[in-house]
Amino acid sequence: RPPNLQMEEKWWLRRSDCRAKGGAPGFKVAILGAAGGIGQPLAMLMKMNPLVSVLHLYDVVNSPGVTADLSHMDTGAVVRGFLGQPQLESALTGMDLVIIPAGVPRKPGMTRDDLFKINAGIVRTLCEGVAKCCPNAVVNLISNPVNSTVPIAAEVFKKAGTYNPKKLLGVTTLDVARANTFVAEVLGIDPRDVNVPVVGGHAGVTILPLLSQVNPPSSFTPEEIAYLTDRIQNGGTEVVEAKAGTGSATLSMAYAAAKFADACLRGLRGDAGIVECSYVASQVTELPFFATKVRIGRQGIDEFLPLGPLNEFERAGLEKAKKELAESIQKGVSFINK
Ligand code: NAI
Repeated sequence: RPPNLQMEEKWWLRRSDCRAKGGAPGFKVAILGAAGGIGQPLAMLMKMNPLVSVLHLYDVVNSPGVTADLSHMDTGAVVRGFLGQPQLESALTGMDLVIIPAGVPRKPGMTRDDLFKINAGIVRTLCEGVAKCCPNAVVNLISNPVNSTVPIAAEVFKKAGTYNPKKLLGVTTLDVARANTFVAEVLGIDPRDVNVPVVGGHAGVTILPLLSQVNPPSSFTPEEIAYLTDRIQNGGTEVVEAKAGTGSATLSMAYAAAKFADACLRGLRGDAGIVECSYVASQVTELPFFATKVRIGRQGIDEFLPLGPLNEFERAGLEKAKKELAESIQKGVSFINK
């Protein structure tokens, strides 16, 4: 039987009306690259999120299948699929949050920067769509190299006259999830009880875990610091090598992206105290983009939190991170302005 579109429409209107009256919240979320290794499990997790009322799944391949599959889940969000460039505008119109995991992943031996050639163009096209169809949406950018794709998105939005630095967030949550997990292993405690700030960027030495600021307050031996820093910085490569040419982190990334998106939606709803690490336009260092803790509210980022006190090891790491970050940022900016 064909789906009962009239019913769906009525149901949707009832929910919108409820939202307008300050009732149950419902946000419209689009995932661009929804049929990929990250996109599919992320789409499932967002379909399960009670804050999502409409979920748009866009890809250049296979989005109808993923949409049909997820549409049978008896959760609240209405799912709609969009296939190929001609449907990008319909996918984006009216969205509150756009999550972008579109692009190619790493293979063994590749750095995230090796993905630049392909993913830079994909991110540009998708962000042009966002600027045109939902300029007020919050954007969660996952496509690598994040250190360059966030500056690319910013330049696209500037050119379109829609840039709002408070609404463009590079997703670095997986670095935090890895840091929490590995630190919890060393401390012998539950990872849910650990919070490690991870600042800088999202590639190799630019990933800077601040082990001196771990919560609960903990001390580590120099060997533990060296082991943890290396494992957190190279967690992505660990997965790329284990997957042996079939891709990079997808399941843990989908989990991390869903966690971050949920934080953004709770912030947009007006919940207090939503603080996450993210790679954003920043004045915390002299670099124009940097990952730090940010407080998320109704308008996107409400507050950029300071780095806090760093020890000598972290200060040295920061200098290394800044050097590489400056080059990656410049590369992204020149890609749009060349
Ligand atoms: P994948 O290849 O499995 O999926 C990518 C999807 O993007 C595919 O379905 C593809 O059809 C789609 N796509 C390609 N061009 C598109 C376009 N122009 N418009 C819409 N969709 C398009 O790759 P996977 O594993 O899902 O990774 C995606 C991206 O996420 C990669 O760039 C990867 O490096 C990055 N990533 C980022 C992480 C982070 O922490 N920020 C962690 C892990 C991966």
